[in-house]
Formats: sequence, structure tokens, C-alpha cells
Amino acid sequence: MIINFSNLQIQYQKYKKRIDANLEIILNKSNYILGEEVELLEKQLEKFTGAKFAITCSSGTDALLLSLMAIGIEPDDEIITTPFTWISTSEMISLLKGRPVFVDIEPDTYNINTELIESAITKKTKAILPVSLYGQPSNMDDIQTIANKYNLKVIIDGAQSFGSTYNKKSDSNLGDISITSFFPSKPLGCYGDGGAVFTNNEVYAKKIGQLRVHGQNRRFYHKYIGIGGRLDTIQAAILLAKLPFFPKELQDRQRVADRYTKHLSQFANIPVIRPNRSSSWAQYTLKVNNRDELRGKLKDKGIPTSIFYPVPLHLQECFKYLNYNKNDFKVSENASDQVLSIPMNPFLTNDQIDYVATNLRENIK
Ligand SMILES: Cc1ncc(COP(=O)(O)O)c(C=O)c1O
Repeated sequence: MIINFSNLQIQYQKYKKRIDANLEIILNKSNYILGEEVELLEKQLEKFTGAKFAITCSSGTDALLLSLMAIGIEPDDEIITTPFTWISTSEMISLLKGRPVFVDIEPDTYNINTELIESAITKKTKAILPVSLYGQPSNMDDIQTIANKYNLKVIIDGAQSFGSTYNKKSDSNLGDISITSFFPSKPLGCYGDGGAVFTNNEVYAKKIGQLRVHGQNRRFYHKYIGIGGRLDTIQAAILLAKLPFFPKELQDRQRVADRYTKHLSQFANIPVIRPNRSSSWAQYTLKVNNRDELRGKLKDKGIPTSIFYPVPLHLQECFKYLNYNKNDFKVSENASDQVLSIPMNPFLTNDQIDYVATNLRENIK
């Protein structure tokens, strides 16, 4: 049996008619920058998330950059985040000459351990930047309470969690600003790079919209130093075609996760989703003791796996200047040694899920 990690081919075949039709319209019009497709997508994203403003952009990484620029991060400002995530989160803080201040994660959700946040706050702290890892929001009640107490901004890295909820509210409609990524393998992916920033704050929304086009407030007039960070019109057209199918895809990701959990809960450290949250299941990630051996055995059976993330950020060469050491964030380090993501996408059949789970059960230690 051949198992596909993300199944983007099947996805395209399923939605081909709508996607091709939308692309043809763009190609015939030959309008490739912004335009009505981008505007319409932003309206639909606002409707889907409940956020007042959705501003699409060129990637999740640029969405983080634009958000940090919008809150006015200055050199040496400190932003509290976790070391167990994709690099973009801290990379963009550092790129703006701010300082990522790491706190460790919870061992079962892999999200920021909110009990550790207050002790990391200093006079220089400007914001908290939680990551909704693998698709599940962090403990936003705690984070918002701390942010209110110390007058900090909250930016959510929801690159992996579009479609997830916290107390029934979209992850994109929490904090001061929330971002997502439309990288092809993300829960809602385009067919290239793309991202979006969400906020209920009109001032931020206007600023982010301008920063996205080189800080222009009107053509050829530059209010800010910005970036070339637009979403391609072609990518907007693809997302417009895919968005109507997304709620069903989320249901199917939940179906896959539930079936994995049913098979594996007695045998492995399965993902834990807190009762007040839903995950968009960007990944289904286990913790195992015999990862290398297990990966090899699964590979032999045609089952691809991934490791998100094998090296936590505080141990990356580029962050040496932050002066962190091994054992500073033991939960993150332990996760890096043990996590294993197994195939997760809405198109896995029950037979395929059973095949993956059976092979896992036979080889897991
Ligand atoms: C947690 C996290 N943050 C940020 C990003 C960056 O998104 P993009 O790849 O669209 O730049 C990703 C994507 O991999 C991610 O997983």
C-alpha cells in the first residue's frame, strides 16, 4: 500500500474543475497583482474567521514580519516565544533586531507553558508570540491575562492552525494579531507561497496593508519602510476555489485523527487536545523512544514520516548569540528527540489509516 503524507495530487484532482476555471479567468484577464480575487478572498477569510480584517500576504513568514513591524518592534525589544517551532517565528524577531526570549513548552501539547511566561518578562518585553503547534491553539486565556497585566501585545503564530478554535472562536480571531500560512501542505494551502494576517484593530490592519506594498499609503508615496509582500492573484484564485471545501477537509482531518487515536492510544504518546480547543490537525504527532528504527521500518512498508522539529531553536547555530545552552529547555529538547509525525491529510482512507496504525503498533517502543 502506498501512503502519501499530504496527498496534494488527490486534492487537486478533486477540486480541479473549480481551480482550473479560476486560473483561466486570471490568465485571460492577465491581472496578476492584487485585484478583485485578493479582495474577495480577504472578505471570505474575514467571514470564515470572524476577524474584522484579513490581509493576505506572500507567506506565513512575511505575515509574522508584517505583524512585528505593525506593533513597532524596536532594537532590543524582547518577544516571548518557544524554541520548539519552525524557525520563522524567532527568525523574524531577530531580523528586526528584536530578541526572542524562549520559554519551554508543555510536554503534551507542545505549546508554550504559560506558567513559565511571567518569570521571563522584563522591562524590555513587548509581546508574547505563542505558536499553535501542529494545529492546536495555546492556552490563550492565560496568555491574554498575562498580556493585559503587563501591557504586552499578543501575536499568534497560527501558521499551522488555520481552522482551529479556542472556546469556539477561530484561532485567527484571538490576540492582537494572528497569522497563518498557506504553504501547500498547511491545512488550507495554496499552490506556492502565501499567508495572511488577521486583526480586529483597524490601525494595525491599515498599517499592515501599507507595509505589504512597500509602505505606500498611495501610489509612489511611501509612509513606511515596508516589504514587497503581496499574495499573488493566482494563489488567491486557488484559495478561493479551495475554501468552500475546507470545512469538510477539517472534518476529515478530525476523522483521521480520531481513528489514529482509537488505534494507538494504548500503545503510544498520542496528541493531546485540550477540551476547550479544536485542532486543525496540520500534523498528527506521536512521541516515541525508538524513532530512527521505527521510521526505517515504516519506510520499508511505504509509510512516510517527518520530524517537526529535530533541533530546537535555542540550539541552532544562528541563535548562538542569544547565549542559551543545552538543558535550558528540557521539554523542548526531549520533544525534538522523540516526536514523529505520521501521514495526516483529509484524503486518507480508513484502510490506509488502519495500515499505518497497525504497522506503528507492531514496531513502536
Ligand atoms: C509554526 C510556523 N510558523 C511560521 C511558518 C512560516 O510559514 P511560511 O512557510 O508560509 O513562510 C511555518 C511554516 O512552515 C510554521 O510552521
